Amino acid sequence: MATTTNASNLTGPAAEHHSQPAAPLLELRGIVKRFGPVQALNGVNLVVPAGEVTALVGDNGAGKSVLIKCIAGIHTPDGGEILWQGQRVHIRTPRDSERLGIETVYQDLALCDNLDIVQNMFLGRERTAGPLLDEEAMERSAADTLASLSVTTVRSIRQPVASLSGGQRQAVAIAKAVLWNSTLVIMDEPTAALGVAQTEMVLELARRLADRGLGVLLISHNLNDVFQVADRVAVLYLGRMVASGPASEFDRQKVVEYMTTGRFGRVPDAPDSKPDGKA
Ligand SMILES: Nc1ncnc2c1ncn2[C@@H]1O[C@H](COP(=O)(O)OP(=O)(O)OP(=O)(O)O)[C@@H](O)[C@H]1O
Ligand SMILES: [Mg+2]
Repeated sequence: MATTTNASNLTGPAAEHHSQPAAPLLELRGIVKRFGPVQALNGVNLVVPAGEVTALVGDNGAGKSVLIKCIAGIHTPDGGEILWQGQRVHIRTPRDSERLGIETVYQDLALCDNLDIVQNMFLGRERTAGPLLDEEAMERSAADTLASLSVTTVRSIRQPVASLSGGQRQAVAIAKAVLWNSTLVIMDEPTAALGVAQTEMVLELARRLADRGLGVLLISHNLNDVFQVADRVAVLYLGRMVASGPASEFDRQKVVEYMTTGRFGRVPDAPDSKPDGKA
């Protein structure tokens, strides 16, 4: 009988159960958010798979930050559903979001200037040895995590974060997400204030996170960034998701058109089927 397996049989690869097609890491369905008369989000759908970089783009005021704040537990949506690995969840506080394994990296608010790198990475989750902080263990983990991400430009992990460049700050914030085993990292305009080399470093980190199997949701205005790292593109226009799909289905012109007009292509009756016409 096939069921009378002994323990040793269970350790082989054959014992791994084949789950059905995995649900996406995160899925938003019909998210609505109002601020008084302002309808910031109007039935937004979004899929964020694990192992990929999803770029969320849109013009100023499109609703990108409001949308990620709904995921991060800062805003509560007025309607719609959030599914995490296929299960419906309620994210009411930043803690709820963190508990799911979601780490949000904000441009400026991510770190405490007066603390050093190690202190920042362990803030609120310090490691102890008996009654004391286990500084050595924390230093080791911080250094290992930064090294594993090939972040090599910081002089000392004991330097205050105030003395870091913008790119290095982003790198530390991202390393923190890795250190805490996050499964989804959200970055809101991570490269907005960065120079060329620093931008490159942050984008490489985003890529590396995805290659490790994390989901990455990258908000950006910068189409260079988007086309350099994104596997998927999603375009918000005045609170509506007007296009989303694999990055290969988009080019710059198309993204710009969606961002600025909410639609693409002006010939409604063009019969010949461009597969990307429907987004
Ligand atoms: N706390 C708030 N109270 C009222 N209205 C808000 C609030 N936060 C955002 N909004 C409105 O919601 C809309 C979307 O704002 P959001 O910050 O998400 O835009 P965005 O896409 O992130 O733009 P940007 O690219 O400029 O950062 C805007 O019209 C904004 O004025
Ligand atoms: Mg914003």
